[in-house]
Amino acid sequence: MLKILTTKIELQEWKAKKTDIGFVPTMGNLHQGHLSLVEKSFRHHQNTLISIFVNPTQFNNADDLKNYPRTLTQDLELLELLHKTYSHKELVVFAPLDASEVYPTNFDTQILPGKLATKLCGFYRPGHFSGVCSVVYHLLHLAGAKSAYFGKKDYQQYLIVKKMVEDLSLKTEIVPCELVRDEKGLALSSRNNRLSEDQKISALNLIHALKALEAKLLTDDYLALETLKKKILSEDKQFEYLEILDASNLEAYDQETQNYLIAGAYFVGSVRLIDNIVIKRGTAQHA
Ligand code: PAF
Repeated sequence: MLKILTTKIELQEWKAKKTDIGFVPTMGNLHQGHLSLVEKSFRHHQNTLISIFVNPTQFNNADDLKNYPRTLTQDLELLELLHKTYSHKELVVFAPLDASEVYPTNFDTQILPGKLATKLCGFYRPGHFSGVCSVVYHLLHLAGAKSAYFGKKDYQQYLIVKKMVEDLSLKTEIVPCELVRDEKGLALSSRNNRLSEDQKISALNLIHALKALEAKLLTDDYLALETLKKKILSEDKQFEYLEILDASNLEAYDQETQNYLIAGAYFVGSVRLIDNIVIKRGTAQHA
């Protein structure tokens, strides 16, 4: 049976008796990508905590926050089903009904991530990563976990959270997890539910562009790579950005770069999708 906690106090009581907790923070509307994080935690910890909380401070658009899908009943069903395979492990859901169960009353302190948050999504969504860091900071404190699992679909989020944890000497290890795609290659995202079947096909333009750049990158011809990027951007106006950066620090790549991040944000109608590929220098292998 799943245990569902809705208050900070319940969570504090539960974790007080545990030593080995793996934590998966989410905003709900769970899909196979989230479930793969939960499974990873099951494999490494006796106790897994998943939070389901739509964090208002990370939305810079009121409509986006209002329209964010809230599907708790369905989420709990998916978790119940997965838990059947791991019934020897404990699974606890923290689903606060109110932001006051996550943030302290009258809290007035922001966490301001640095350079990493000025690039890619951070450039186009000012304040977003500050909101993410603030909520993750509070959730990590509440969870008291050994490890927390983050999907690499939100690669920039993973890097920023990892840096925050290092810079603020938090005790939880941040574990990156593989991005999950559907059979056609579309990266799984809660936002995919807002796409029609035709739009799902248009959405594949994003991964096709990333793959074309990957193929060019593997030839080590940087000039041809940049030319192709410009061509894609000039031919398809649905891209918000399409960039190739050093995957370790999101700076411009150069001859020394070991791992490349090819990342894009793409609009299909009003739905904004992101995706990325990380590749190792000089190999066809995904890092
Ligand atoms: O990736 C997400 O779903 C959110 O940004 C997170 C990490 C749960 C913080 O609200």
